[in-house]
Amino acid sequence: MSRYWDVYNGWRANPEAFWAEAAKAVDWFKPAERIFDENIGPYGRWFVGAECNTAYNCIDRHVAAGRGAQPAIIYDSPVTGTKRTLTYAQLLDEVEVFAAALAGLGVSKGDRVVIYMPMVPEVAIAMLATARLGAIHSVVFGGFAANELAVRLDDAKPKVIVSASCGIEPKHVVKYKPLLDAAIEMATHKPSHCIVLQRPMEQATLQAGRDLDWADLVAKTRAEGRRAMCVPVDATDPLYILYTSGSTGQPKGVVRDTGGHMVALAWTMKNVYGIAPGEVFWSASDVGWVVGHSYIIYGPLLNGSTTLIYEGKPVGTPDAGAFWRVVSEHNVAALFTAPTALRAIKKEDPQGALIANYSLSKLRTLFLAGERADPDTVRWAEWALGVPVIDHWWQTETGWAIAANPIGLGALLVKPGSPTVPMPGYDVHVLDEDGHEVADGQLGNIVVKLPLPPGCFPTLWNAEERFGPSYTDHFPGYYKTADAGYRDADGYLFIMGRTDDIINVAGHRLSTGAMEEVLSSHRDVAECAVIGAADALKGELPIGFIVLKAGVTRDAKDIESEVVALVRERIGPVAAFKTVRIVTRLPKTRSGKILRGTIKKIADGTDFKIPATIDDPAILDEIGAILSKRPIAS
Ligand code: COA
Ligand code: AMP
Repeated sequence: MSRYWDVYNGWRANPEAFWAEAAKAVDWFKPAERIFDENIGPYGRWFVGAECNTAYNCIDRHVAAGRGAQPAIIYDSPVTGTKRTLTYAQLLDEVEVFAAALAGLGVSKGDRVVIYMPMVPEVAIAMLATARLGAIHSVVFGGFAANELAVRLDDAKPKVIVSASCGIEPKHVVKYKPLLDAAIEMATHKPSHCIVLQRPMEQATLQAGRDLDWADLVAKTRAEGRRAMCVPVDATDPLYILYTSGSTGQPKGVVRDTGGHMVALAWTMKNVYGIAPGEVFWSASDVGWVVGHSYIIYGPLLNGSTTLIYEGKPVGTPDAGAFWRVVSEHNVAALFTAPTALRAIKKEDPQGALIANYSLSKLRTLFLAGERADPDTVRWAEWALGVPVIDHWWQTETGWAIAANPIGLGALLVKPGSPTVPMPGYDVHVLDEDGHEVADGQLGNIVVKLPLPPGCFPTLWNAEERFGPSYTDHFPGYYKTADAGYRDADGYLFIMGRTDDIINVAGHRLSTGAMEEVLSSHRDVAECAVIGAADALKGELPIGFIVLKAGVTRDAKDIESEVVALVRERIGPVAAFKTVRIVTRLPKTRSGKILRGTIKKIADGTDFKIPATIDDPAILDEIGAILSKRPIAS
């Protein structure tokens, strides 16, 4: 029997008592004066008056409690053929010294540090060192282009950037330094220093005066005997800013606070993931995403568990057995990945033949998130691995699961296609456009009654005025998740898709609006639409439709490839934008709104009704004819 309903109802009966109890998992320098204060910020703040430090809770206290010799981080990099283990004592040593190095460059409480790095242990050291100083990190995913990095630099205004000479993709080395230099060139804000980790595969050119070699800086700091202590910060102070796609090219800076974040993550490690201190937890994501922040770095370390930093892919590094090798070699107790990774594995090894090469005896659970877990993939993984496959649903904004099957409280029945039930802290409702509750089984807007629980974003960086219009104005009193779905009679949630222009490509959240801005900037494009077409591997793939300006006679193929290159240059390879079609006109409503939903249905080959408000239905046939002449190939 699961304790879920008792625990959830316990939270409902007294939310503050619930979170005060959960807060005992954290070491505080000063306890909270109020567990929740509804009068601060857009909807209130948690653990007001408390003082704490995240790095202290992730490292120092575990060393003090005797975990010094236990592995904190295992780095496994099939793309470089490297493995390395850092114990908690070694991690403390590295973080103390790197934090002192940052402090030596003038970084102190409240300053921002942008981290633009591949999946190497130094990324964790940089994040934790920043947290140690009470400074605020903002990690930018390596697959973003210089322009995206520049936008983030101008918003976060970092004193220092920590980067590396390169990242390693299976087929090529991605030189980070030229991207970093280009971003700094583009940005108005200039950091005073860049610390660059020189990797053996690529030696970056350093700019005298501004750029510092990671190894030299650390060696110098050590030689000077400098180490940094943990700086107490308010529980409500930001730990990090993580930018996520908004509906325009201006990303939203999701702020994560310090105290509530620790309380929430510590609760989930035990109760959602069922992971004990000392066990190995592997989140096969990237630190550039929220999953990487919460479950590669902070969750496992707060819990005194061992985390894995994996620099590789589910397939091709070297084969579709890569995940199972890592699970077996490092005794992984729970693996967390995106359904797209499993689909990639299943495509190459449908019979799971490679699984038989490894012992997965320690693996208890496979967790999935980042995109809808389609029932076929869930069933295949259950069959192939013989462990429960647990979908859970959350967002960058929430930082942890809104809905899950809480393994630590006792598993509930798995219904493939559903991330199961709301977690304590989340009072989830399904509303129609007018804000009325819809019946069970009926599709609607999924919203969370305010306040959001600890760990969720309290505000947007530099843009509190965007909070209401983006999240709470539409359904007053509720947080709009911008996901659509329904609840069944057993209280299980089903998340079916977004209600805004966000698409999900291989578990990566991208804005079609931002891509449209890039397409529109091409000199020959008069207007455009970008939709997410269904894709068997990546879930969705962006497809652009462009109408050319009158009088343009250039070769269509040239224009198409220029548009594709432009998206790669401005947004980055992660957008996976490879397909564009030139059309003579776009379907619109009589009031001029482009019917993107209908274009998507035509591209997906699903049934659709001709919208009553359409200006000219003949355009739909034109789009259909163009797509059938050159079908979309992933
Ligand atoms: N730095 C630089 N470039 C990167 C990058 C990084 N950190 N990560 C990805 N890219 C590039 C890739 O090289 C690729 O470029 P290309 O167009 O030159 O080939 C592009 O971005 C798209 O990459 P990716 O999404 O990894 O696609 P893929 O076709 O190489 O691999 C999968 C497909 C399914 C194996 C891969 O998408 C995957 O592992 N997905 C899981 C995603 C995940 O875990 N998401 C976390 C959400 S919880
Ligand atoms: P991100 O902010 O990048 O984590 O993306 C969040 C979005 O991904 C959500 O709003 C959903 O649209 C989608 N998503 C994440 N996890 C799931 C899931 N388990 N089921 C369905 N959609 C999901």
